[in-house]
Amino acid sequence: MSPLHVPLLALLIGSVLGQYDYDYYQGPAMMLGPSGPNCPEECECPVHFSSAMYCNNRHLKAIPMVPTGIKYLYLQDNDIKEIKAAAFVNATDLRWLILDNNQITSGAVEKGVFDKLKSLEKLYFNFNNLTEPVGPLAKTMNELKIMGNQMSKFPSGILSGLENLTLVDLQGNQLTTEGIAGAFKGLKSLIYLDVSKNKLGKLPTGLPGSIEMLYADHNDISSIPKEYMQKLPTLQYLRISHNKLADSGIPAGVFNVSNLIELDLSYNKLQNIPEVHENLENLYLQVNQINKFDVGSFCKIMGPVNYSKLRHLRLDGNNLTRTSMPDEAANCLRMATDVILEATD
Ligand SMILES: *[C@@H]1O[C@H](CO)[C@@H](O)[C@H](O)[C@H]1NC(C)=O
Ligand SMILES: *[C@@H]1O[C@H](CO)[C@@H](O)[C@H](O)[C@H]1NC(C)=O
Ligand SMILES: *[C@@H]1O[C@H](CO)[C@@H](O)[C@H](O)[C@H]1NC(C)=O
Ligand SMILES: *[C@@H]1O[C@H](CO)[C@@H](O)[C@H](O)[C@H]1NC(C)=O
Ligand SMILES: *[C@@H]1O[C@H](CO)[C@@H](O)[C@H](O)[C@H]1NC(C)=O
Ligand SMILES: *[C@@H]1O[C@H](CO)[C@@H](O)[C@H](O)[C@H]1NC(C)=O
Repeated sequence: MSPLHVPLLALLIGSVLGQYDYDYYQGPAMMLGPSGPNCPEECECPVHFSSAMYCNNRHLKAIPMVPTGIKYLYLQDNDIKEIKAAAFVNATDLRWLILDNNQITSGAVEKGVFDKLKSLEKLYFNFNNLTEPVGPLAKTMNELKIMGNQMSKFPSGILSGLENLTLVDLQGNQLTTEGIAGAFKGLKSLIYLDVSKNKLGKLPTGLPGSIEMLYADHNDISSIPKEYMQKLPTLQYLRISHNKLADSGIPAGVFNVSNLIELDLSYNKLQNIPEVHENLENLYLQVNQINKFDVGSFCKIMGPVNYSKLRHLRLDGNNLTRTSMPDEAANCLRMATDVILEATD
């Protein structure tokens, strides 16, 4: 009896949704009380958390003056269209600047706005109208999110020297391969990069060796360079779903790297299961054109100590049925808890 089974529950995409995590909006809402001194009347600066200034969701058209001592500034969900440097003259302590869901255009960001923000760590600029990135930013930065804007390029040099930057989220823009050339060079601490939902024809190059999560779903990527993975020795999660990958664009053994834990190649045009390393735990291949289950893609050698560590394997939406799976698959995929071959089974 095969240890493999085919559960009815076919959706394993919870972790994909997990990246849209807006919990920070809640902030320490419980502590909201009377405002401290110097707080602009449009906003609230809780007495017991006086370094935070809440100005979110108030139909604001401009950024109020930020008093000295404010570290956390919430300006999301307003009608702000421009940023004037004057608002920030005393904001030298600012660590977090949250500007999501406004209508700020690149031309309306006054030059030098970020010069005063010498302690800035997190800048969230999601869902605005930027056509190019803002900057230069403080060397203290650790998170930059500019998703859902209209940027077609992210010039090299914008992020240079940001040695503590760990997370960059640029999904949902119009970035092209040429437009991001060199953009991420030298970011010694970068761990997470999301360039999903753009217009990339290739995976980003010149990434720092520190990267652990690279998400490039929903682009126009048709091939992966032969040595691509060798340059990313700590990469664990790679997502390239909803692209144009065919077998010819996957060099032999390109995914045969021991560091990878999760690989998402769903919604492409693959006809064969690419060869993966024994250490891979999650492999998503649903909705391709695969018509053959080759155990050799997972196990070159099978034995007491040689087997695949794969736990979740999705192959539904291909030209495969349960009978496509050879008996020896059970011996190779002995750690597998879900092998999904058909959407309705
Ligand atoms: C900035 O701080 C200085 C000194 O505390 C104060 O005099 C000035 O009014 C402040 N400016 C703004 C725009 O808040
Ligand atoms: C921002 O973009 C939205 C649509 O994406 C548009 O409706 C709005 O007018 C734009 N705002 C500005 C200030 O350009
Ligand atoms: C980067 O982070 C380290 C450790 O938190 C800190 O000591 C260093 O000053 C930071 N660098 C910059 C440029 O802020
Ligand atoms: C995959 O990599 C291992 C080393 O990690 C190597 O022994 C093996 O030959 C490689 N397989 C192929 C087909 O390149
Ligand atoms: C099989 O297991 C042995 C012992 O752990 C290991 O040395 C060898 O490299 C493995 N072979 C393959 C192809 O992974
Ligand atoms: C699907 O698989 C069956 C059986 O292996 C084969 O006869 C058929 O040609 C395949 N169809 C496509 C579109 O590859």
